Amino acid sequence: MLDNRAPLPPEIARRRTFAIISHPDAGKTTLTEKFLLFGGAIQMAGQVRAKGEARRTRSDFMKMEQERGISVSASAMSFDFRHYRFNLVDTPGHSDFSEDTYRTLTAVDAAIMVIDGAKGVESQTQKLFEVCRMRDLPILTFCNKMDRESRDTFDIIDEIQENLAIDVTPASWPIGMGRDFVGAYDLLHDRLEIMDRADRNKVAETIQISGLDDPKLADHIAPEQLKKLREELEMARELLPAFSREAFLNGSLTPIWFGSAINSFGVKELMDGMGEYGPEPQPQKAQERQIDPAEQTVTGFVFKVQANMDPKHRDRVAFVRMASGHFERGMKLLHVRSKKQMAIANPVMFLAADRELAEEAWAGDIIGIPNHGQLRIGDALTEGEALRFTGIPSFAPELLQVVRAGDPMKAKHLEKALMQFAEEGAAKVFKPMIGSGFIVGVVGPLQFEVLASRIEQEYSLPVRFEPSQFTSARWVSGAKAEVEKFVNVNKGHIALDNDGDTVFLTRLKWDIDRIERDYPEVKLTATKEMM
Ligand code: G4P
Repeated sequence: MLDNRAPLPPEIARRRTFAIISHPDAGKTTLTEKFLLFGGAIQMAGQVRAKGEARRTRSDFMKMEQERGISVSASAMSFDFRHYRFNLVDTPGHSDFSEDTYRTLTAVDAAIMVIDGAKGVESQTQKLFEVCRMRDLPILTFCNKMDRESRDTFDIIDEIQENLAIDVTPASWPIGMGRDFVGAYDLLHDRLEIMDRADRNKVAETIQISGLDDPKLADHIAPEQLKKLREELEMARELLPAFSREAFLNGSLTPIWFGSAINSFGVKELMDGMGEYGPEPQPQKAQERQIDPAEQTVTGFVFKVQANMDPKHRDRVAFVRMASGHFERGMKLLHVRSKKQMAIANPVMFLAADRELAEEAWAGDIIGIPNHGQLRIGDALTEGEALRFTGIPSFAPELLQVVRAGDPMKAKHLEKALMQFAEEGAAKVFKPMIGSGFIVGVVGPLQFEVLASRIEQEYSLPVRFEPSQFTSARWVSGAKAEVEKFVNVNKGHIALDNDGDTVFLTRLKWDIDRIERDYPEVKLTATKEMM
């Protein structure tokens, strides 16, 4: 990722667009909140807490999903820190939304991985990390909850190196743990950071020292802890790789900070790390060519659509990652898929709980564009060039169920609701060639519950999901005549997806193998690019 391109314009170069990934409960919400606090976007901690708590139970989770305000304002947050502009993009916490998460990660240039110091690398951390790895995203690691009994520092680092196959370099080193946690030694700046236990929102004290032999250390650290710190650091320097920006930017090395989000400890250092070492807005790939952020003309792509944020207006917000140029409110942009011009009159940016009109945006920024359904995931907006951004996949669902309206007279309403959720990317909707009704496909079972609850809430339409005879879906492509022949013979298994593309539904993996043998010209795929 380290590039030798010409320097970016300062407004673009100061942007850092990233996501936080973690296993539930590791402290993502708390850390986000402290970021917003230090970024001046909120005045006091506690304003976004509702979100973390809401995740605790399924019903609360759904309730929160219905309170679109909270989750949407958290979808992408912008704030300034020192001379940087941070764009923090939220990733859905629950594993059932991995597809959404994947797409979100196409919109960022880096990720912060939060782990719990007592628990280390957990299942969801691992999964999300793999997604970042696919995109070679640079990762900063924050080992949280050091104010509690945690694991041995070398142990934690070893576990990350082994489980995630990434080199780890300590950016800071914890001094003591649990009740005896004093603070951390900042290896990148030779500083001592002391945790303030009295005030959770107060930033820790920083003491500049001239290395490990500085007598000032003894004023703050008990002799035994100091001895241990010196030994550990000596070992760390011998055993662990030194920080290399190049290795960090190409995704093969992660710097780790130790801290306590709830005590605001280590958070500013992590933010400094993101600012100083984190990647500038990166080039984006389109089918036609690569888009450089410094290009004069505006381009961007939709990576997420959220509907019914405000139940009074059936509006949707499409989240757009700006890929290049300097956008100004009111600009007319080409919506490449429909070949129509769109005047972007009311773009929004999100500052914690408030939506604000975005007067301008630069490459790297995320803006929300309210619309009535024209904008879909994968869509490109440009100043005239017909670009198609790549790398935003749609995954074959792993669970398929038949959906039925409680009131059969409302079938049309149901279709409308389903199409809307399909466009939002919340589910796949298939219309079988034979028979009536719809089959809905999702990646995780909780999605059915969330869908049922949203359809009822937003469309006053009670629905039931029932088992279907199918378990897999594959997109069908290939030479037209061959595909037609294949479709005619397999009508009972064919459906159209919400974009009108042909899909083969089956129950048996064996079926897919057989078709690949019998119809060598027909291709069955488990992903398709969204555009
Ligand atoms: P998540 O978004 O990753 O799910 O985690 P969240 O921030 O909600 O934090 C999960 C729990 O861990 C919360 O406790 C939170 O207060 C606690 N926590 C976060 N950072 C730290 C830390 O540095 N040290 C300690 N000791 N705890 C931390 P909870 O009891 O579930 O909620 P609450 O009652 O504190 O709100």
